[in-house]
Amino acid sequence: MLILSVESTCDETAVALVEDGRRVLSDQIFSQAVLHAVYGGVVPEIASRSHVEVIYQLADRALAEAGRSKGDIDAVAVSYAPGLIGAVLVGVSFAKSVAAALGVPLVPVHHIRGHMAANYLAYPELEPPYVCLAISGGNSLIVDVRDYTEMRVLGATRDDAAGECFDKTARVLGLGYPGGKPVDALARQGRDDAFPLPVAQVEGRPYDMSFSGLKTAVINLVHKAEQTGAELNRADLCASFEKAVSEALVPRAMAAVQELGYGKLVAAGGVAANSRVRADLERAAHAAGVTLYVPPLRLCGDNAAMIGAQGYYELLAGHTAGSDLNAYASRELDA
Ligand code: KG4
Repeated sequence: MLILSVESTCDETAVALVEDGRRVLSDQIFSQAVLHAVYGGVVPEIASRSHVEVIYQLADRALAEAGRSKGDIDAVAVSYAPGLIGAVLVGVSFAKSVAAALGVPLVPVHHIRGHMAANYLAYPELEPPYVCLAISGGNSLIVDVRDYTEMRVLGATRDDAAGECFDKTARVLGLGYPGGKPVDALARQGRDDAFPLPVAQVEGRPYDMSFSGLKTAVINLVHKAEQTGAELNRADLCASFEKAVSEALVPRAMAAVQELGYGKLVAAGGVAANSRVRADLERAAHAAGVTLYVPPLRLCGDNAAMIGAQGYYELLAGHTAGSDLNAYASRELDA
């Protein structure tokens, strides 16, 4: 089963060809990061226009790299939610037209389900059930993945996502956009006990998270130092910030996997690339005898191969759409 998959929810345009949900024949990604860096964040209108400019070319390149033709495509999968609405619409419109022209099924894929499925590409032995810690630029979720397409959200952030918090921290420290990678790099040179930063608990909801207090605390520290002229060790602040993020994520994910008794924990999304979070997950999983799956760095960020992987299982479950498929800025993962 050959799936052409499409991803355009934020600032990466991507088209892939994936066989049977597990084998990537081509994974074409165009990152718009340089277009947005000058503004310090993603500009939605620029993102949409750029997707339109490159999406057809990426599909042609994917077919050429895989040595396949349009007639070989059995289905088209597309990331239809959540994301920047104009950006998502480009991918959805493209996928609909390709599916209609080829007369093949159209498969809508939730973007975060795609992030989780990136692990199926890296770990052929991985199968549900497992607990997933899905941490990206727009979402922070702890999910009970009962089966490939049957899942239940156990906890979510009440406000900012972990990735958003990395990006704001980078911005206030003048580290550029996107912020996760430079904060990660600087943190490695700092002391994580230099600044006591808050790790929020949500009363009565042990798996829910909140990152807005942490974000505000970092911003206030930086502004205060600017106003008083005090020297601020940016590496120490980054290390302390990462420690707080990790303390908000790792114990919750471990508690969920132990409560459900699956013995398997999966990480997913852009923030799963963070070296502190990866190291803490590895330590905690090892100590608890839990098998940990963390995507390789190239599969943590947005890509279309992960959409093709999840698309395969959605197709097997009969989750297809007609040409009236819409794009959504937000959509529940377990709807
Ligand atoms: O999953 P992703 O590529 O896009 C969404 O689906 O949202 O995640 C992007 C987020 C950004 O906030 C970026 O700063 C963050 O992932 N990120 C990182 C690292 N690399 C990317 N955060 C922490 N450490 C990293 N090494």
